[in-house]
Amino acid sequence: MEPNEFRATGHRLIDLVADYLDTVEEKPLFPKVSPRLLTQLFDEPLPQEPADADAVIAELEEKLLPYCSHVSHPGYMGLITPTPTPMGILGDLLASALNQNIGAYTIGPSGVALERRVVRWLDDLVGYGPAAGGNLTSGGMMANFIGLKLARDWASGDRAQHDGVTGRWAAYASEERHVSVDKAVDAVGLGRDGLRVLPTDDAFRLRIDALEAAIAEDRSRGVRPACVIAVAGTTNTGAVDDLVGLRRIADREGAWLHVDAAYGGGMLLSSRGRAALPGLELADSIVLDPHKWFYAPLDAGAVLVRDEQRLTTSFGLQPAYLTDEMDTQRERYQYYVHGFEQSRRFRRLKVWMSFKRYGAREIGRWIDRNVAQASRLYELCVADPAFEPATEPTMSAICIRYCAGDLDGPRSAQLHAEVARRVEESGRFWISTTLLKGKSWFRINPVNFRTRMEHMDGLFDLLRRECQDVARSLPDR
Ligand SMILES: Cc1ncc(COP(=O)(O)O)c(C=O)c1O
Repeated sequence: MEPNEFRATGHRLIDLVADYLDTVEEKPLFPKVSPRLLTQLFDEPLPQEPADADAVIAELEEKLLPYCSHVSHPGYMGLITPTPTPMGILGDLLASALNQNIGAYTIGPSGVALERRVVRWLDDLVGYGPAAGGNLTSGGMMANFIGLKLARDWASGDRAQHDGVTGRWAAYASEERHVSVDKAVDAVGLGRDGLRVLPTDDAFRLRIDALEAAIAEDRSRGVRPACVIAVAGTTNTGAVDDLVGLRRIADREGAWLHVDAAYGGGMLLSSRGRAALPGLELADSIVLDPHKWFYAPLDAGAVLVRDEQRLTTSFGLQPAYLTDEMDTQRERYQYYVHGFEQSRRFRRLKVWMSFKRYGAREIGRWIDRNVAQASRLYELCVADPAFEPATEPTMSAICIRYCAGDLDGPRSAQLHAEVARRVEESGRFWISTTLLKGKSWFRINPVNFRTRMEHMDGLFDLLRRECQDVARSLPDR
């Protein structure tokens, strides 16, 4: 590609993105197209000959853009994917252009320094002291995996890195944990059967009495507690487990305390600040996802560790071909020695650029607005006897359900699924469904700085109408 062609194509692409963002609200949020047609659209052999850059972009305008799920549309309130900040979008462009490989100092010296600074900002946000560190991950799933690996290694007295898991160990989490915890206990060798899934209270927080009982039962059978996994902001309702109480139990049992704040971590920027997640700084490791409620473009997750040394102890291998012989003063930070991944995208550039451009306070105001929007929906729901909320929201995630007509479980599930389908079809909103304590719910979660209060009223109106309509059409029992 000639420099002039690159420049012209780049300008065209930025114009296209700017137009896209300016007009996103006018688009149908979700495409009316079959998965089969989309497969057909892209069904072609590997191109052998070059094409004009304009033609490539024109093809994307025809085949990709019209069929996106427009998460920047203000009516998007579904699975946690925010509208990305425009500055973050530009950050990703620059990161790709520089292609710094943050895994090793020699392939990105200034990038490593910038990432270290962003980790420090995140450590400061959660209230960690100077010994803390962290790692930047593809997302919460990978961060939970690293947290569980740190827990396993520490609990085994750092033997598990060599011997594998020996003896019988258990990890403890609530029924409201994210599925990444189940994958992580499997991946680090504790096994899914080693995960004790504990009930929650009325506010969907892990029940401390159930944890105590499970530990006592395990101890009586010679099973040792390796890790307590808490959630600070559950995916369904934003519930925050009792982190102070769980720390006390973990200390008594000699267990690691890992906190999943992948979604709820956004509250640290809100006007409530750290008070929204009391005791977070007591955790041994924490997951935060800037690509959720810090409005960073995908991908940008993080695992933070109270004692940075634990990362080195768990991952500190240095093969000859990666050893930096120029680092005579041991000053060059090598992420690959302190984390699981080697080659790594320069993920923090977009987070750094967003913090610099908007400031934490402005991002916090967007978060406060999302929280207020969830509260508005809660009020509408409480005022309508045909609906019930799962709990009063403390963050932006809220679950509500249609409770009129005394529907049994299967018919209620059918109603909620059909209404969510109709909402998708409307092109105005996108929400999901879930199960809580055996009942079906709409799961609604604004993490979008373009969403306005009027969208909550519009969504509730639509839900009310569609629920009544679907309820009328359901077959009698
Ligand atoms: C509480 C929680 N933890 C972890 C994850 C997984 O994060 P990611 O999708 O970034 O892998 C999610 C995703 O929604 C989540 O809500």
